[in-house]
Amino acid sequence: MPRMTLLGQAMPKCIALFALLVGIAASLDETQAFIDCAVDSDSCAEMEDNTLQLIQMKRRLLPAKAEKTLMKGVSYGPSPFTSPAKNKHYDYFCDSAEAMWGDSGRADLRVIKSLGANTVRLYGNDPQLSHEKFLDHAWSLGLHVIPGMGDKAFATPPCKGSGDFSCAEGVKKAYAQNLEKGFLQANRSYHPAIKYFIVVNEPELKLPSLSEPKKFARAVVSAIDGVLEAEEEAQVQGPKPNLTVTFSFASCAMCEQFQTKPGLGQLWTLFDALRNPVKYGVTTQRNLTDFFRTRFTYSFNSGNPAEEIEDMFLAQYQQLFPTTPIFVAEYHDPYNKDTQADLQKILEIAQSSPLLLGVSFFEFQNRYDQAGHLVWGMFDPQQDNSSKLRVEFQEYSSSVPCLSPVFDGSRTIAEQLTTAYGGPGIEPKRLCMPNPQQVVVSKHGFRQMVGLQNITSMQQFIERVVEKLGGFVPFVVPKEFAELFLRPGSNSNYHDLEELLTAHPQWARWDTFSACTVDAHALESSLGGKIGYVCGLGYADCSQMPPSCKGSVWNAASWTFGMHFKELVYARDSPPKPLQQCYLDGSAQFVRSSIWKKSPLKPECVVPLGWSDPNKVFITQHGFHLIWSDQDPTAMRIFIRRTVEHTGGEMQNGQVPEDFIQKMLGLEGSFRQLQAALHTRPSWAYWGPSSACVPDKAAKAREVGGAIGVVCSKGIFDCKTIPEKCKGSVWDNAAYVFGSYYKALRERGQRADPLWDCEFTGRAVFASPKLIDSFNLTQDCVVQVSTRNNQSK
Ligand SMILES: *[C@@H]1O[C@H](CO)[C@@H](O)[C@H](O)[C@H]1NC(C)=O
Ligand SMILES: *[C@@H]1O[C@H](CO)[C@@H](O)[C@H](O)[C@H]1NC(C)=O
Ligand SMILES: *[C@@H]1O[C@H](CO)[C@@H](O)[C@H](O)[C@H]1NC(C)=O
Ligand SMILES: *[C@@H]1O[C@H](CO)[C@@H](O)[C@H](O)[C@H]1NC(C)=O
Ligand SMILES: *[C@@H]1O[C@H](CO)[C@@H](O)[C@H](O)[C@H]1NC(C)=O
Ligand SMILES: *[C@@H]1O[C@H](CO)[C@@H](O)[C@H](O)[C@H]1NC(C)=O
Repeated sequence: MPRMTLLGQAMPKCIALFALLVGIAASLDETQAFIDCAVDSDSCAEMEDNTLQLIQMKRRLLPAKAEKTLMKGVSYGPSPFTSPAKNKHYDYFCDSAEAMWGDSGRADLRVIKSLGANTVRLYGNDPQLSHEKFLDHAWSLGLHVIPGMGDKAFATPPCKGSGDFSCAEGVKKAYAQNLEKGFLQANRSYHPAIKYFIVVNEPELKLPSLSEPKKFARAVVSAIDGVLEAEEEAQVQGPKPNLTVTFSFASCAMCEQFQTKPGLGQLWTLFDALRNPVKYGVTTQRNLTDFFRTRFTYSFNSGNPAEEIEDMFLAQYQQLFPTTPIFVAEYHDPYNKDTQADLQKILEIAQSSPLLLGVSFFEFQNRYDQAGHLVWGMFDPQQDNSSKLRVEFQEYSSSVPCLSPVFDGSRTIAEQLTTAYGGPGIEPKRLCMPNPQQVVVSKHGFRQMVGLQNITSMQQFIERVVEKLGGFVPFVVPKEFAELFLRPGSNSNYHDLEELLTAHPQWARWDTFSACTVDAHALESSLGGKIGYVCGLGYADCSQMPPSCKGSVWNAASWTFGMHFKELVYARDSPPKPLQQCYLDGSAQFVRSSIWKKSPLKPECVVPLGWSDPNKVFITQHGFHLIWSDQDPTAMRIFIRRTVEHTGGEMQNGQVPEDFIQKMLGLEGSFRQLQAALHTRPSWAYWGPSSACVPDKAAKAREVGGAIGVVCSKGIFDCKTIPEKCKGSVWDNAAYVFGSYYKALRERGQRADPLWDCEFTGRAVFASPKLIDSFNLTQDCVVQVSTRNNQSK
C-alpha cells in the first residue's frame, strides 16, 4: 500500500516538474510527449534528441518503475451443478466445500493462484458456517480474500419484507457470527487474508430497486452501521479491513445527482447518506463521515469493455471522490473480440489511475443452477465419473465436477487471463477437456467443440444436435461435414449448423412425428412460468388443452410447448428452428417419436409436427416443398386447389387431374412450374372475369392488422383514402387496403402476380367472387380487378 501512495503523490509532482522545465523552451506538444513518456516509456522513443537529457533526468527522479500492486482477482462461486437445478446452498468458502477449493480436492485456490491472481472475490455467506480453513489456505498461497454479507441478513423486517429498509440489526447479528467463525483470530485481530468486506452486493437492484434511492441508501448505511457495531462488540484488535459496497453499473435516473452516468448516481447517493444519515432516516452514534474518510473503498460490477469504463466513468469518478479508492468487483465483457487485450487494457488503466485498484474477473466457472449463466465463466463444471470427491452440505450433497476450460475463439479464457495476470499457468492435471457427450447442445457447447479442434469430438457433438432436431444418425456424421466447422478461418457458426441440418441431409434419418415436448431435465418449479409465457405469445390456443393434460405440470407443459411450436411453424414461411424455437432456456426439447413414446408423458399431451397440413402451409416455394417432401397425392391435390384459389380461380366441380398431381410430385416438380402451368389457364379449373386481393380467412386478425401496416407503408397506395365504412373491422379494412394496393400495382403497369404480390406472408389471397362470398366481407370494401394475366415484363 505505501508504494501506491508514493506513486499517487510523487507522479503528479514529477510531471509538473517536467512541464515547468519544458515549458521554458518547448511547445505544448513536447510537454504532452513528456507526460506520455512518464506514463508509458515506449512513447519516449518518439521524442527528439534535444530532449534526451531531460528523459535521463526523469529516470533519476522516478524510482525504478514504481508499479503499484494491482488487484488481480477472480470472482468465485463454484456451484457443483452440471444441469439446471434448484440450489439452496450458496456458501462455497465454508469448510465443507473444501473438496472444491482445498489442495486435497480440486484445488481451486491453487488454480486461481496459478493464473497469476492475488485476490478471490466471494459470493454467498452462511454465517453459521466456519470460514477459517478457507482463509488460512488462501493466505498460505498468498491470496487476499473479499468475502461478502449473505442476502439472508437483509431478508426480514425491519430491513426487507414489511420493513422500512433499516438493516443494522440483521447485518450485525450475521457479521458477529462471521467474526467468531473465522474472520477473527484467537487474539481478536482480523485474519490477514481478508482484504475487504462487501457489506452488500448491488443494493440498488434489490433493496428495493433503482427507482427508490432513499431506501437503498438507508439500507446500506444502516447495514454499515451494523457491521461497525458488531466489530465494537467483538472488541476487534489491530488493523481492520476496509468495508465496501458493490454497486451495479446501471444509471440511476431517480438519484439526486448524476442520473445519466452509469454507476455514479448510486455512488454519490451513498456518499451523501453517509454524511447526512438523518436525511435518509438513519440514526447512529457513529461518525460515518469519518468512516468514509478512513475505511471505505468503493466497488462496482461491470460487463463493459475497458475503454468504456475509462471514458464513461473513471475520469468523473476521480474528480468526484479524489481520495477514495475503487475496484471492479466483477469485470468481464463476454462479447469482446479480444478478451486478453481488454484485460490488459483495464490493468493498464488501473496502473496509471491514482484510484482504480484493479479488477476481479467474473467469473471462475459457469453456473448451471437456478437461472444459470453460461457466458461469463472461465471453466465449465463437467460431470466426472472417475472422481471420488464429494461435498456434503446441509441442504444437499454432490459429487465434485471437474473443470473444463471454456474457449473464447481458439484460446481458452483461462489462457488469456493467465497472460494478462502474468501467472505461471494451470497444471494440465487440474483440468478435464470439454466432453462432446456432455457439453450442452447449444451455442455454448458448439463453441467448445470448435475450440477443441478435434474432428471426432465435433462429429459426436453434431450427432447430439441431430437428435435435438428430431433425427438420428444410424452410422456416423461424415467427417467432411464436421470439418466444415473446424477449418481455420471458418465463419460457420451454430446457426449455420442448424440450417444445414434442417435441410435434412441424407446421412441422418428424420422423423416426421418428432415433437416439441418438455425436457425431462427441466426445473419443475419453472414450468408454470414457461407455460404462461408461451400461452401469452398467442400462437397456441391454450384454452384447447385436453383436460387430461391439466393434472400434471409436465403434461401441461408438453402440450403447450408442442402446440406452440406447431402453430409457430405454420405461421412462418421458413423451416422450423427447434434449437431456437423449442428450447425455452432448456425447458423444452424437440425429440423423435421413439423417444417421446417411451417417456412418461401421456400420448395425447404430446403434439408431434406430423405430416405438413396442406390446408395450412403458405402458398409459396417453401409451402410447396413441404407438401412435395411428404409425397402424398391427396395433400398435393389440396395444395394445388388452394394455389388455384390464390390466383383468382376456382375448381368448380372439377378435380385436379391425377397426372398433373403426379407431375408436381415428381423429381422436377416445383412451385415455379405450378405457377407457370396455372398461367396457361388449364381447362380443369375456372377463372372468372374478375377477382380481388382480400385477407385470408385462415389468418389471425392480429397478423392481418400487422400486414395492413406493412402494405400502407409501401407508398403504392395512400391509406388515408380508406372509406369510413371499411374501418369498422380489421377484415374490411384489410380487404380495401390489399385490394387497392394490388389494383394500384396493376395500374402502374408493374408486374403484378397474385402469388407474389397478393401474399403478404400468408395473410392475403387473390380470391374469386365465389370464395369472397364465404369470407363475410362488406361488399363495398372488396376491390375487384380483372383476372387477365396482364404482366408487362
Ligand atoms: C494476533 O496473532 C497473529 C498471529 O496469530 C499475529 O500475526 C498478529 O500480529 C496478532 N495481532 C495482535 C494485534 O496482536
Ligand atoms: C465527524 O468527523 C468530522 C471529522 O472527520 C467532523 O468534521 C464532523 O463534524 C463530525 N461529524 C459529527 C456529526 O460529529
Ligand atoms: C481504505 O479506505 C481509505 C478511505 O477511502 C483509503 O484511503 C485507503 O486507501 C483504503 N484502503 C484500501 C486497502 O483500500
Ligand atoms: C457418468 O455417470 C452417469 C450416471 O451414472 C451417466 O449418465 C454418464 O453418462 C456418465 N458419464 C460418463 C462420461 O461416463
Ligand atoms: C478427440 O476426441 C476423441 C473423442 O472425444 C478422443 O477419443 C480423442 O482422444 C481425441 N483426440 C485428440 C487428439 O485429442
Ligand atoms: C359477418 O359479419 C357481420 C358484420 O361484420 C357479423 O355480425 C356476423 O356475425 C358475421 N358472420 C359470420 C358468419 O362471421
